[in-house]
Amino acid sequence: MSAAGAGATLRCLLQALPLVLPQFAPHLSASSLPPIFVLNRAIEAFASDGLIGHARDLFEQMPERNGGSWNAIISAYSRTNQPINALSFFSRMFNQGVPPKDVTLASVLGSCSEVLDLCLTRQIHTLVVKLGFCSNLIINTSLVDIYGKCDVILDAEKVFDSIPNPNAVSWNVIVRRYYELGRGDDAIKALFQMIRAGVMPLNFTLSNSLLACADAGALFEGRQIHGLVVKIGHYCDINSLVRNCILQMYAKCGALDEASKLFDRTERRDTFIWTSMLSGYVSCGRIQEAEKMFDSMPERNIVSWNAMIGGYINCSAWDKALDLFRKMEGEIGSYDIYTLGTVIKACAELLDLEKGRQVHGFAYRHNYQLDHYLCNALIGMYAKCGRLRNMEALFSRVLKKRDRVSWNSLILGYERHCRSEEALYALREMLRETSPNESTFTLGLSACANIFSLDRGKQIHAYIIRNGYKMDDIIRDALVSMYSKCRLIDYSIRVFEEMESHDVVLWNSVILGCAYNGNGKYALEVFEEMRRKEIKADNVTFIGALLACICDGFVNRGQRYFNSMSEDYGITPRMEHYECMIELYSKHGCMVELEKFVEEMPVEPTVPMWLRIFDSCREYGYPRLGKKAENFINKSNPLNPVRFDMEGMDVGPKELTGIR
Ligand SMILES: *[C@@H]1O[C@H](CO)[C@@H](O)[C@H](O)[C@H]1NC(C)=O
Ligand SMILES: *[C@@H]1O[C@H](CO)[C@@H](O)[C@H](O)[C@H]1NC(C)=O
Ligand SMILES: *[C@@H]1O[C@H](CO)[C@@H](O)[C@H](O)[C@H]1NC(C)=O
Ligand SMILES: *[C@@H]1O[C@H](CO)[C@@H](O)[C@H](O)[C@H]1NC(C)=O
Ligand SMILES: *[C@@H]1O[C@H](CO)[C@@H](O)[C@H](O)[C@H]1NC(C)=O
Ligand SMILES: *[C@@H]1O[C@H](CO)[C@@H](O)[C@H](O)[C@H]1NC(C)=O
Repeated sequence: MSAAGAGATLRCLLQALPLVLPQFAPHLSASSLPPIFVLNRAIEAFASDGLIGHARDLFEQMPERNGGSWNAIISAYSRTNQPINALSFFSRMFNQGVPPKDVTLASVLGSCSEVLDLCLTRQIHTLVVKLGFCSNLIINTSLVDIYGKCDVILDAEKVFDSIPNPNAVSWNVIVRRYYELGRGDDAIKALFQMIRAGVMPLNFTLSNSLLACADAGALFEGRQIHGLVVKIGHYCDINSLVRNCILQMYAKCGALDEASKLFDRTERRDTFIWTSMLSGYVSCGRIQEAEKMFDSMPERNIVSWNAMIGGYINCSAWDKALDLFRKMEGEIGSYDIYTLGTVIKACAELLDLEKGRQVHGFAYRHNYQLDHYLCNALIGMYAKCGRLRNMEALFSRVLKKRDRVSWNSLILGYERHCRSEEALYALREMLRETSPNESTFTLGLSACANIFSLDRGKQIHAYIIRNGYKMDDIIRDALVSMYSKCRLIDYSIRVFEEMESHDVVLWNSVILGCAYNGNGKYALEVFEEMRRKEIKADNVTFIGALLACICDGFVNRGQRYFNSMSEDYGITPRMEHYECMIELYSKHGCMVELEKFVEEMPVEPTVPMWLRIFDSCREYGYPRLGKKAENFINKSNPLNPVRFDMEGMDVGPKELTGIR
């Protein structure tokens, strides 16, 4: 029989089979059946017609099968995206002792890649080596792919490096894996290696490495790839995906001019390219241009809406973000997890619990999977809004999905709402489950400061040092504040002096810490040092300096600082500063200056201030101002009147002022 004749016969047979076999196969004896290889082809034919049930029936009813039959059914399932079934047939095959062929293993690996079964993949890898299928490039490439997907990139690299001549697909796989693991630099490097090796990149390889450039901000390499694309695409037009990625690369790398040139030159602009341009403006913080872009888009998809909402969030325009979300509800009525997460973040910032709850309810009703991102957004929202019960409930329900972000939110929730003990307890629990970061310590230290828990503060300090965390200004600030609140000012100073810093917050903490701890001299030294270093003092710094003057009795100096604050630093004194000055004069008995100061104050002193003035006038025998204070206090506080009395006999209730 000629080859063509055989083909025709097979075709006839295959046409008849679907009709005949499923119904009559049980009655057929082995001898009256076509040969096995024909039935194997039939399985394949059923599968490629989408009749996977028929393929399976035929397979099950075959009285005899060979490796080809197994291969046919496994690849049928693998190709129709039913990896679980493919793997279960493979395990049946394996248990029956049928030796697999390399094509079978390739299909099985394809399924492993779908379900990310790393364990099985390793077993198959061993089998591949044992059976000597090492020359199969497809198998090796699949292994690279799966190892990469399962985040064991070292294994992926090992297999990739052992491939003598990787083809375009293998290169594509390694580039993509690097990119998706966030290792943009390696992805870009791999692309250039590929080109040096003389392998023509696929469009996907180009687009993935361009996206890697976008993520890594690698404008220089991105430009080179653009040049390359133009060269390769000299005779045929540039692939639209690649073109979009070039634009996205320029936009994300901040080369908006080049991006918009490319945008203008693009004839058929699809939503993707519009959105890339929009995201470019957003990521450069050019929100007005982004708005204009968004408004003029002919069509918008979820990604475009998300980009615009994200842009508002990024520049803290929470209200606008929520408005746009409402508009999105009306216009397209569908969202993804990212939209919901972003909106929940906006609600958290606005402390809009009501809206946040609505979005949570919406996600719940519409069966959105509460993935990491959404869970964390919700936990953060409940934490910020002080709904600690809801926060705890959600937190314990997502046991498997919680990570550092969730723990940090939990601790933040406790810390912000004065539940410092719980915050510290959560921090301890967190250490068992995941690793903290610098923000976690900051929260923990501030919880220690709240409850004056010096021991635990020291433990956290030790943990930070022991585990080699970076001592940034924020942590040092938290440490300085914690030690000074716990009255261990020497430690506080030591932490401060360990490293040069120009962060005014840190300087403020140490100045305030010393002032509160009665070490005014050191506080003022630090303040002068700060001036020498030209670190710009702010309103808080001056409070610290004034407190230091109060505690060490430097009245003139305090006066000078107070004047210099508005004259040299352009800081308008706030109530706190007036309070400090009143305390400074009151405490040190400078009644004439006090009277003058009160007269010249642009705002009326508050009741606590008058009370402080009243007390000092009595103490230092200064009736003129004392009577004035009495008058004011009686007027605004008729239930608690005072009477200025030089003998100190009949004085009303005293109140402490707000100043320490
Ligand atoms: C496949 O990988 C093995 C190591 O796992 C290696 O020895 C072999 O050379 C590779 N073959 C091909 C064609 O890539
Ligand atoms: C890339 O896409 C372009 C245009 O769509 C096409 O002409 C070209 O053949 C593709 N290149 C490869 C390697 O697939
Ligand atoms: C947010 O805006 C800043 C500049 O304003 C920009 O550097 C950053 O990339 C933006 N982030 C996002 C996610 O757009
Ligand atoms: C620590 O992790 C949180 C997420 O919980 C993140 O928002 C924050 O920026 C991280 N802090 C540092 C200093 O990396
Ligand atoms: C310092 O000034 C900032 C804004 O200029 C203000 O938010 C803050 O409350 C002030 N702090 C004190 C203690 O006055
Ligand atoms: C303030 O109240 C006290 C007690 O009632 C009274 O003796 C005194 O005269 C009052 N002073 C003024 C100025 O009203």
